[in-house]
Amino acid sequence: LSEAPIGVFDSGVGGLTVLRALIRALPAEDFIYLGDTARLPYGTKSAATVARYAVQASEALAKYDVKCLVVACNTASAVGLGAIRERVDRVPVIGVIEPGAQAACKVSRSGHIGVIATESTVRGGAYQEAIRRRRSDARVTVRATQLFVALAEEGVVEGPIARAVAHHYLDAMFIAGDAPDALVLGCTHFPMLEGAIREAVGDTVPIVDSAATTAATVHAQLEETSLARRNGAGRLRFLATDGPERFARVGTAFLNRTIQASAVELVDL
Ligand code: DGL
Repeated sequence: LSEAPIGVFDSGVGGLTVLRALIRALPAEDFIYLGDTARLPYGTKSAATVARYAVQASEALAKYDVKCLVVACNTASAVGLGAIRERVDRVPVIGVIEPGAQAACKVSRSGHIGVIATESTVRGGAYQEAIRRRRSDARVTVRATQLFVALAEEGVVEGPIARAVAHHYLDAMFIAGDAPDALVLGCTHFPMLEGAIREAVGDTVPIVDSAATTAATVHAQLEETSLARRNGAGRLRFLATDGPERFARVGTAFLNRTIQASAVELVDL
């Protein structure tokens, strides 16, 4: 079973920022990444719809005999993780909310933590809950910043438009005298906009995302169950539910390595 691949799923290309961290932490592993591009965005949809989509995508990935499933989408993790675990009970299912909350609690001194995410993630309350479970003194300020998803997909990640949107969302959160002292990028698209976000919040606020902590969680899980692969160079396989060309073009920036459109397989869920 240790030879089996790790399944990674997101609503689109955003989860490739998590895959990047997974490859760095686990270079010998094979990964199968599924982007549900036909149904993106998840972030504006109801919890019931997101959960239904996420379960379908997870069941489709599980059929590739994965040894572990990473839900590399905050929205799906926030509202669908329980349903996914019920349906895919053969392998460990790891979401990105708990690792993100863990990273934030580690860096925040004051306990006032800012979280930006999609509408559905904010509405689901999973970050607020996961942070407060770790730190009962925490005060969590959350804001839905849905336009960041579109900007990242369009590749408009720096320059005046990206900066204006970052200020639009973040100025009201980072008020002098009452600002969070850590900011969680609670959507896998947002690391692409870190430069613009950094400019809006200033130099001193730590910005954390789930990618590295999720990779560490997966690593620990595989070690614990003796399923880690130690030797060789891992392979990547990409599946998308729509638009392999667009997946390859936009995904290349997210993954920071070239994805050929011909290497993206179109799948139906
Ligand atoms: N990548 C998704 C997330 O992490 C957001 C994109 C979407 O709205 O589907 O929440």
